[in-house]
Amino acid sequence: MAACSGEGAGGGGDTGGNQPGDLTIGVSMPTQTSERWIADGNAVKEKLQAKGYKVDLQYAGDDIPTQSQQVDQMITQGADVLIIAAIDGTALSSQLQAAADAKIPVIAYDRLIRDSPNVNFYVSFDNYKVGVAQANALLVGLGLQNKDGSKGTATGPFNIELFAGSLDDNNAHFFFSGAMDTLKPFIDAGTLKVKSGQTKIEQIAILRWQQETAQKRMEDLLTSSYNDGSKVDGVLSPYDGISRGIITALQNAGYGSGAKKLPVVTGQDAEIASVKLINDGVQSSTIFKDTRLLAEQAVIAGEAFLEDKEPQANDTKTYNNGVKVVPSFLLPVQTVYKDDIKPILVDSGYWTAEEVAAGQAKS
Ligand code: GAL
Repeated sequence: MAACSGEGAGGGGDTGGNQPGDLTIGVSMPTQTSERWIADGNAVKEKLQAKGYKVDLQYAGDDIPTQSQQVDQMITQGADVLIIAAIDGTALSSQLQAAADAKIPVIAYDRLIRDSPNVNFYVSFDNYKVGVAQANALLVGLGLQNKDGSKGTATGPFNIELFAGSLDDNNAHFFFSGAMDTLKPFIDAGTLKVKSGQTKIEQIAILRWQQETAQKRMEDLLTSSYNDGSKVDGVLSPYDGISRGIITALQNAGYGSGAKKLPVVTGQDAEIASVKLINDGVQSSTIFKDTRLLAEQAVIAGEAFLEDKEPQANDTKTYNNGVKVVPSFLLPVQTVYKDDIKPILVDSGYWTAEEVAAGQAKS
């Protein structure tokens, strides 16, 4: 059977009999300001190209209209499958309708696309568990808990502050609820005190996960709640970029020099700049999400669709996008403290020892 759509390469989902070289996968990534998305984009592209597919990889500079336009263009140019990590999980409904009309399957990549029936599959990590792991890392850093989950020797009380990600990213809510479910008993017991009183996600969210915005919020918190000589002991941070903003604000306020110890600061993504900070004892931990494995799952799901099959899900309950439960493949995550950098990140080839020392990806 020859290409049936008559639109040249692919022509929208109807791929019967086509060779990989005739098929194009559109890959839409949110931003290049965070290395994780660069690594994700490159990994998806390389894996698809190794199988002979054509790849249209686009980054949207964290700008919603740009992403909408890029996805529109992928559709009109006849993409056969779309893999999308959305900037705003609710902003792509009309693009997804156009994709569905053209019979192009859509895979939501790491971030669930909401409010649309036209999301065919979701590949991500267990986002609730990311939040739990971040909260546990905070407790471990403070000495309230040991790494094996047993009770630690510290008693507190400790002053902490909470940060969350971008409210328009579905993941931010999962991270927050996993973390808060874990921290709440300690807050209720008075062992952890959120001195600012800001514990609602709307109060602590950082739009677009931006480092500068996080730095500004931490500065404001220090001025409003810690100008009485009290100290911050821990900060729940959902993402390494936010962690670096928080750390900069703290350092500018004298933390990390003399007797004023830096608080325990958590993170996520094992970004190289933060891995160096962990290695140097500045940031306490991060949550490692192996983007190579995520990319691989996206490619497996994409290929299944191209072969007219349903990709295999390992979760068909958790991710309701407001219209339907999207079948998902969720990967596990790992907490990385200083001692874990070598076994988890270096020995697996995610970062080299040189990159960790430099705090920079090689290229
Ligand atoms: C989330 C993602 C996190 C982090 C964050 C900021 O959607 O799950 O791992 O990358 O975006 O980019």
